[in-house]
Amino acid sequence: MCGIIGILGNAPAAPRLVEALKRLEYRGYDSAGVATLENGQIKRRRAAGKLANLERVLAEEPLAGITGIGHTRWATHGAPTTGNAHPHATDKVAIVHNGIIENFRALREELAKGGHKFASETDSEVIAHLITDYLDKGQSPEQAAISAVRRLDGAFGIAVLFAGHEDVLIGARKGSPLAVGIGDGEMFLGSDAIAVSPFTTRVMFLDEGDIAVLSRTSVKVLDASGKQAERKVHIFAGGAAAVEKGNHRHFMQKEIYEQPETTGRTITRYVNAFEERIEMPDFGGVDLNAESAVIIGCGTAHYAGRVAEYWLEQIAGLSVETDIASEFRYRKPAFGKNAFSVFVSQSGETADTLAALRYCKENGLKTLAVVNVPESTIWREADARLPTLAGPEIGVASTKAFTAQLSALAALTIAVGRARGAIDAKEESRLVRTLMETPRLIADALNAEPEIEKIALELSKARDVLYLGRGVHYPIALEGALKLKEISYIHAEGYAAGELKHGPIALIDEHTPVVVVAPHDALFEKTLSNMQEVNARGGKLVVITDARGAAEVADIAQHIILTPACDPFIAPLVYSIPIQLLAYFTAVHKGTDVDQPRNLAKSVTVE
Ligand code: F6R
Repeated sequence: MCGIIGILGNAPAAPRLVEALKRLEYRGYDSAGVATLENGQIKRRRAAGKLANLERVLAEEPLAGITGIGHTRWATHGAPTTGNAHPHATDKVAIVHNGIIENFRALREELAKGGHKFASETDSEVIAHLITDYLDKGQSPEQAAISAVRRLDGAFGIAVLFAGHEDVLIGARKGSPLAVGIGDGEMFLGSDAIAVSPFTTRVMFLDEGDIAVLSRTSVKVLDASGKQAERKVHIFAGGAAAVEKGNHRHFMQKEIYEQPETTGRTITRYVNAFEERIEMPDFGGVDLNAESAVIIGCGTAHYAGRVAEYWLEQIAGLSVETDIASEFRYRKPAFGKNAFSVFVSQSGETADTLAALRYCKENGLKTLAVVNVPESTIWREADARLPTLAGPEIGVASTKAFTAQLSALAALTIAVGRARGAIDAKEESRLVRTLMETPRLIADALNAEPEIEKIALELSKARDVLYLGRGVHYPIALEGALKLKEISYIHAEGYAAGELKHGPIALIDEHTPVVVVAPHDALFEKTLSNMQEVNARGGKLVVITDARGAAEVADIAQHIILTPACDPFIAPLVYSIPIQLLAYFTAVHKGTDVDQPRNLAKSVTVE
């Protein structure tokens, strides 16, 4: 992920841009850059490496403009060089971008044919050229930005500066966050409230699909449908912006909505988008071409491991065993020859997971940690680590950390598949392309919120809820039930759909909602039979499925939660969204303490 800032000010912009970028360095520091307008012309300064390098460049060649944009980069497409640093610019437009432009290759080809010359290896540069193309066709800055944004697939937050337009700055967001800071005769754009906090305490958070057209004295927000919209202004005094909920009522809701961004950030950490292949960090002696692996975690982290078990067996042909950390360490497990072990943990401090890691080390296994908190104990003690880049998770119920774990484990699956010769280069590039679609599809899945909120009202009256899933969606059903239990205090159980008739079907009656995770995949027909069994016994079906699935369950489902059609590989990531929203709104309807549910703790450092 990257940090972006934009300023329509009354004082030299460059020092203020750098000040804001310092607050955004947590989002990446591979390179940094700023652009300002001088006599209406775009002037840029960029530098590879940390912000201090950009400061040196600016000290030697200062910029005088009072209107500008800035960027600190976490490299995704293209190496962290000065040439790939943002802002990217033509003579008419400069842009800074956070996120992934999925269709950048097609756009780049189209624009190159039209005479546009590209200077970087980034996906972002197409945005500058695309907007320029529309300006060349006679459109105004606002129209050109809107036309260009409509053509971008993927997840993004952008800020755009226009040559010759000292009083215009345009921001757009889809999947990646963007905030507007409102000053006195000044206006700001930033990736978050912290970025604009040195300049103003008044902050407006843009909603998904918004485009903001700023002047020094006005903000015009257009929503995803192009209609003018109002967004609430929040006041942040002192350091309050550091940990804020934005437009959201709870941290959990905010974190659910961050997932296009957090999955994108995690995926791009492991993907070379140009070559469409996975690039993993040093594995510290872990041999991916092993005969078997064990994956260990607790709670939600364990369920991420269970999804990975399906992936690694089906895609990489690796024999995998998953276990709950507290069971694993006391059962004296036997290991296959040359096995490696994977530990999944948000906090990196969970006592049982740490003990299991130490047990594996003592038994000679190489250890690989999928961890969210850098420098945590599990991070430090493992032989190798795959960071999940979810950022701080404040809500006790894990959401964005789960999908970040799935993102890293999906990349690991492709790497293991390649190491074991189970997939060829063509299949690897197909899987990588599919993985890169995840942030956009998660953003689409979030659109089901209004429908889910209504269904949740009914769910909030239930005493028991069953969750069903098959194959890779069985762990998603388990995770759905866990989420519901922990924040709404409603008793919930997850079952493999095919297991229903072996006992749990006795629980079905008209008072027991049954939530079914059922994309229209190769196993759909089987799950459909299980849904018929529930329907025949008067059970209320809440079916989470895509349009094809919806057509087949229309006559038996009480409710359908429509989820975007997607490749089966990334479906567990996309289907995590509705189950999280369902638990969230059920808890909201019940009035429980969503962010700090009773009896729980964020980091469980006791056995
Ligand atoms: C559920 C949840 C817990 C954690 C578990 C492991 O929403 O948050 O089940 O997943 O306590 O914690 P970490 O991932 O920190 O090891």
